[in-house]
Amino acid sequence: MNDRLIIFDTTLRDGEQSPGASMNLAEKLQVAHALKDLGVDVIEAGFPIASPGDFEAVQAIAREVRGPVICGLARCNAADIDRAGEALRDCPRRRIHVFLATSAIHRQFKLKMAKEEIIRRSIDGIKRARQYTEDVEFSPEDAARTELDFLVEVVEAAIDAGATTVNIPDTVGYAVPSQYAATIAHLKKHVRNIDKAIISVHCHDDLGMAVANSLAAVMEGARQVECTINGIGERAGNCALEEVVMAVRTRQDYFQLTTNINTKKLYPTSRLVSHVTGIQVQRNKAIVGQNAFAHEAGIHQDGLLKERTTYEIMNPEDIGVPQTELVLGKHSGRHALRQRVLDLGYHLTEEQLQKVFDGFKALADRKKVIYDADVEALAEAQIHSGPALWTLEAVSCNAGSATIPSAAVCLWHQDGTIVRQASLGDGPVDAVFKAIEHITGIEVKLRDYRVRSVTVGEDAQGEAHIEAEYNGRIINGRAVSTDIIEASALAFLQVINRIALRMAAEQRIHSTEAPPREPAAAS
Ligand code: KIV
Ligand code: ZN
Repeated sequence: MNDRLIIFDTTLRDGEQSPGASMNLAEKLQVAHALKDLGVDVIEAGFPIASPGDFEAVQAIAREVRGPVICGLARCNAADIDRAGEALRDCPRRRIHVFLATSAIHRQFKLKMAKEEIIRRSIDGIKRARQYTEDVEFSPEDAARTELDFLVEVVEAAIDAGATTVNIPDTVGYAVPSQYAATIAHLKKHVRNIDKAIISVHCHDDLGMAVANSLAAVMEGARQVECTINGIGERAGNCALEEVVMAVRTRQDYFQLTTNINTKKLYPTSRLVSHVTGIQVQRNKAIVGQNAFAHEAGIHQDGLLKERTTYEIMNPEDIGVPQTELVLGKHSGRHALRQRVLDLGYHLTEEQLQKVFDGFKALADRKKVIYDADVEALAEAQIHSGPALWTLEAVSCNAGSATIPSAAVCLWHQDGTIVRQASLGDGPVDAVFKAIEHITGIEVKLRDYRVRSVTVGEDAQGEAHIEAEYNGRIINGRAVSTDIIEASALAFLQVINRIALRMAAEQRIHSTEAPPREPAAAS
């Protein structure tokens, strides 16, 4: 049997469906380039019919990123498939991924369709997708809760219709490893034409078993795993790419499989995705968490000093965890900085690199040493500085135990006007946020606000992280500065700009398009 495991990354599609994880075009392009450098086989770049922004992102990635197969998602209907076909048109290696739910619950309550109609629509959808590309993936959504005999029928029909990959999603994270593996074994045994397609798995983590389920399926012959960086995704997330890849590599003796992943890029890619989405990686997260290679117990430290493998099954260097964070100083040149920016996973234009270099020189005047996190903050400022309605010109505040906290904020609007506002608040940061809300006319519910230092030392930069709610949607913002009030104002403004951009995009859609028949969201 084929011993190569195909890594299908859906960070930009299912991952982006994590509450608060939405990315702008520039951010999606950064992530797509980083995924290519990482060596993923397939990038699911988005769901083109979902919004003009999704279409634009899939199209831009399809035009710009060469190497991996670029995939677009579509429901089993002509409009979705045509839109995906159009977005991917300029890509030599393109895939359309069509899906239709098959479980009794979805048939009865969501689709109100009989089994025969599901099969007919799946066949029509796959055949339509084949008009755009020979690489067509089909997903019977909620497969893990679908009756086995019906699943066999659907998968067989899908392959006959031209599907080259059949994906078996555990859409709601309901499966357990032995049962999910048995489903794959059943399909291998009973689907007449199963050898004509790759079996793929797509597991959600609602019960914390997405990786275990995926690996159990691999042992039964699945040869594509759908996963996301840091396991981000709808609800509890998807199968974590770094965990699957390192499990297969570390336990080569057991899985006897290889992947195309350059594991040294796992850590920088994880950081990039975390920064771009604003979703922090939990400290004890396997492979890429801050504690993944930290040994606290004396016995462990002693063992490690004697022989690393006593307590470490993986070498942190193989994942790309930096051995020393100290990278650059005041006299470091442009070339060293450019290399560091690339190593950290950022693909910037010459103009953006120049701005990073200018920022680096200014920062080096204020700080003795520049760490990776400082360079990341400078690089990120470039990719975040996509289209912004509002820009911070200046912020100042007044606080203390015997005074009412107040702030003065000055913002530039994209149209060239400058607006100033003073506000009182419960504290200086609250006063800053109120002033920004007043100027922009956008009021949000603050769900979380954190400040931490990104590096060590008294001159370390402060990172502000904000999670806000607007119209039931979660939006994240993050910014770094040597001044924590400025970092807070910038992070808050990032949230406001994301909302303003989304509102503008929604207005465009409503004025040009009729609403879709069913919600264009997948899990
Ligand atoms: O979870 C799911 O079922 C999905 C499909 C679109 C593959 O994301
Ligand atoms: Zn999913």
